[in-house]
Amino acid sequence: MARWLAGTNDVTQLFLAAGQVPDLVNLAGGLPEPALWPVEDLARIAGEVVRADPQAALAYGPIEGLPALRDAIARRFSRGGLNLARGNVLITTAGMQGLDLLGKVLIDEGGVIAAQAPAYLGALDAWRPRGPRYRPMRLGENGCDPATLMRGAQFAYVVPNFSNPTGRLVDLAERRALLAAAEAAGTWLVEDDPYGTLFYDAPPLPRILDLAGEGGGEPYDGRVVYLGTLSKELVPGLRLGWVIAAPDMIRALATAKTGADMCTGGLVQAIALRAFEEGLPERILPEVLALNRARRDALLAAMAEHLGDAFDWQVPAGGMFVWATARDPALDTDRLLRAALDHGTCVTPSSVFDPEGRDRRSIRINFTLNAPDRLHEGIRRLARAVAAIR
Ligand SMILES: Cc1ncc(COP(=O)(O)O)c(C=O)c1O
Repeated sequence: MARWLAGTNDVTQLFLAAGQVPDLVNLAGGLPEPALWPVEDLARIAGEVVRADPQAALAYGPIEGLPALRDAIARRFSRGGLNLARGNVLITTAGMQGLDLLGKVLIDEGGVIAAQAPAYLGALDAWRPRGPRYRPMRLGENGCDPATLMRGAQFAYVVPNFSNPTGRLVDLAERRALLAAAEAAGTWLVEDDPYGTLFYDAPPLPRILDLAGEGGGEPYDGRVVYLGTLSKELVPGLRLGWVIAAPDMIRALATAKTGADMCTGGLVQAIALRAFEEGLPERILPEVLALNRARRDALLAAMAEHLGDAFDWQVPAGGMFVWATARDPALDTDRLLRAALDHGTCVTPSSVFDPEGRDRRSIRINFTLNAPDRLHEGIRRLARAVAAIR
């Protein structure tokens, strides 16, 4: 086996397997509520697109994606000074493939990534085989200077809208500072944005991509590489995502994609195109926001009741997660995960979001998958698990 496999974290296997345990309250994943999926619409659209254009839906397609879908995404994301053309868009097999391809085109063995810390587990997993070194960017903390950290890095990686795992929102001034830092360092700035529509308390902020497009011409040729996905705004199982970037970057990513899967499934792309044309994501959004907001508030109420003496946390203004940090530095959240499983619940420990696996002080709690009574029960069980290991 290749050497990098030895560096994987067995805690990940533990909480991924937990999904199969009966009656477990799973607060570990990052799953949306399936009851909100527009199942009938998607079933109808799937039938229609296969019959209407079997060539597009069922043949091998262009590596970069169906031209009409690339155009639709270019139109959807062009705004203000940001002018996107087809050559700025690559269709990917969901957001994870965008991360994987970026690793392939940007990281040489031992290369440096300036990554928002703590960092999305899937990104760390995607890049682990490339053996990168990380410079953690602890945004918002005293002494964190992105401009210094980005210097000499292959790229910088941020999730400005409700980071996974912390739920933190990067404000407008910070977005501008990140962009300026990337431009000064001459490095790529990867903006990973699965949660960009999930704002519960205020309207969405401009994307860093929008800021990078200000004053630019067409096609867009800036430093920001933007990753989007249908996973959180429609359904995760289509595995449909996109990269928006300078044409040179799109060409490089397409070269890497050739060796990965040749093209994203045509049927899925044709469904996505029709879903955009019919406005399906916009149609379900109000209900998604209302349900997620109510569940966030239910989780926070349960945490205040049962975990207030052991953990500190902040209210996330969107996304899917609450990040809670133990007051007692001796409370080891890898141990807590094992105790939580014994008590019938599951959360994600901070070690998996740290490339070194050393941060064992925090937990990520998901609030979108479970109804309020189950969230409450899960937190009650978690509090019992905390008591058991203290
Ligand atoms: C920050 C972040 N990036 C990327 C992804 C990948 O999602 P997908 O591959 O389903 O698009 C996720 C999924 O949870 C995520 O949280």
